[in-house]
Amino acid sequence: MSTTLAETHALEVPSTATLKLRPTTTDGTSTTSEHNEEPYRYVHLLPVFPSERYPPLTPFEHVDPGFRALSHPNPRSFLDNATVVEITPKLGSEITGVNLVDLDNDSRDQLALEVARRGLLVFRDQQAFLDSDPEFFRNWGRHFGRLHIHPTSGHPEGFPEIHLVYRDEKTTYNYELDDWVVPTVWHSDVSYELQPPGLTTFFLLAQPETGGDTLFTSQVSLLKKLSPAFVAFLRTLKAVHSGVAQANFSRSGKRGATVRREPVENVHPVIRRHPVTGDEAIFVNRQFTTHIVGLKREESDAILNFLFTHIERSMDNQARPKWRPNTVAIWDNRVTAHTAILDFKDLKVKRHGARITPQAERPIPALDGLRLDD
Ligand SMILES: [Fe+2]
Repeated sequence: MSTTLAETHALEVPSTATLKLRPTTTDGTSTTSEHNEEPYRYVHLLPVFPSERYPPLTPFEHVDPGFRALSHPNPRSFLDNATVVEITPKLGSEITGVNLVDLDNDSRDQLALEVARRGLLVFRDQQAFLDSDPEFFRNWGRHFGRLHIHPTSGHPEGFPEIHLVYRDEKTTYNYELDDWVVPTVWHSDVSYELQPPGLTTFFLLAQPETGGDTLFTSQVSLLKKLSPAFVAFLRTLKAVHSGVAQANFSRSGKRGATVRREPVENVHPVIRRHPVTGDEAIFVNRQFTTHIVGLKREESDAILNFLFTHIERSMDNQARPKWRPNTVAIWDNRVTAHTAILDFKDLKVKRHGARITPQAERPIPALDGLRLDD
């Protein structure tokens, strides 16, 4: 069971109804790391949940930085001095020997292309990145697109563009389905937005020594496993993605209990095309996709449940990197899906992560001429 807000040790509810995770406990002692008396290194990145309201997001034109790398004579030159190990044949590369804070704009363009092609890059030894200030995080993300501001999650004080995940021995601010046998669910981040994210950067500032891995899958490889006739049918379909359940989760008092922007529902193609690589990818997920437009309920449920189950059980498309300290993972949210693994609850340790989430284009149908607004 999740801890209720009233039980959380480090929360206060001031008159502004702003929820804030404070660096001190209610008995006045300082919050320290789990195993020593050092102050927590990333106290400036702890989540707050202000009650302010955001207006609806507006459309914008996304120019993908990966396009610029396509014409580069060596679009992988940012990896010239790196060690690159493919995590699985179809998804993910683990990289050492690159310091992300040193990448210039040209290298960041190359990074975007490499992420689009491999789905997921896991960079080790990135303490300089983690220790950067929030303004650096914003500038990093803005190279790749307009930064998404999450409607319900916690963020560092003054930096709503930085989405935080947070769980410790007393509470959780994550989207965890306590009445499910498996309390986390496969998804592409905020796929309900008209322009869902593209290149997404995520890192853990504190993590358990074991547990709390993230599972990723390639929605491109998943599609390639299906028979041509079925894929041809899927290309004709479009589905509704909804943020309502996520908003209602917060309105029920969980996860900071704030909804700063009204939830939206948008229609996306079931099979989308990556603008840079041209890869086709399944773009539905159990967390946010509610139904297929124009089909009877049972038909929609049957197809979606097949695809959701396909995502979940295709271990030959999945990568499961471990969150060693100072790791930064970067994935392309358009062609991958992921889920947290909540296997460390009983360890009663802190897991604190930050996500920088640039939005990308409105999903492009793999089927030319598929109309999304009808
Ligand atoms: Fe996610």
